[in-house]
Amino acid sequence: MSREAALAGVRVVIDAGPTYEDIDPVRFLGNRSSGKMGFAVADAAVQAGAEVTLIAGPVALPTPAGVARRVDVRSALQMRDAVMRAVDGADIFIATAAVADWRVAEYSSRKIKKGPSGAPVLELVENPDILAEVAARTPRPFVVGFAAETDHVAEHAREKLVRKGLDMLAANHVNENIGIGADDNALELIWPGGSESLPRASKAELAKALVARIAARFHAQLRARA
Ligand code: CTP
Repeated sequence: MSREAALAGVRVVIDAGPTYEDIDPVRFLGNRSSGKMGFAVADAAVQAGAEVTLIAGPVALPTPAGVARRVDVRSALQMRDAVMRAVDGADIFIATAAVADWRVAEYSSRKIKKGPSGAPVLELVENPDILAEVAARTPRPFVVGFAAETDHVAEHAREKLVRKGLDMLAANHVNENIGIGADDNALELIWPGGSESLPRASKAELAKALVARIAARFHAQLRARA
């Protein structure tokens, strides 16, 4: 099989970008994810021949050429609905999104006003873990997670792989110059029984290397089950 066709005919779902959790009509909780890594992975998966569905949080990025479907969402709950619909019958799910861990318990449909009673206290509730929910499905696609780590990258990544029941985890080194929002990145890939470091490179190059490793593990798993 040629490298270019490593994912020919394979249905891949990718979530990307941040989620925004609305507080009232003008305010939200968000994070600094740009979506660049996820969009680069979508591009690389298309180059590898995959049929790609891209579920995007609020990002300012054009759809990579050849992506079969793009679904734009805003909140974690919307992203979860879109992902659950898309993974039905999919072969591979790659969770690159920086899903907000919390949303406000009660959205205010009116703009919250300043007043004599002082600053409001926001009650937060935890968002569902989309990645863990996909991994818990039967049947389920080959499931790849991302993790942002600042220290003890390999140990934290291995723990997360096991806890969430993943087939592969790509751990991001994050500090001021690399990772979130940056153009460069480095990844530590972990899977049950193995690991590999992908050294610092552009997100496009890393995405290509990552997709090649995902394709190899995905096909190895298929062969093992046959
Ligand atoms: N994820 C998800 N749904 C959430 C939270 C995270 O699908 N509600 C996914 C992300 O898309 C990513 C992985 O889970 O693939 C990140 O796992 P997480 O446990 O959030 O790790 P970190 O972001 O590294 O945070 P922490 O180490 O604080 O747990």
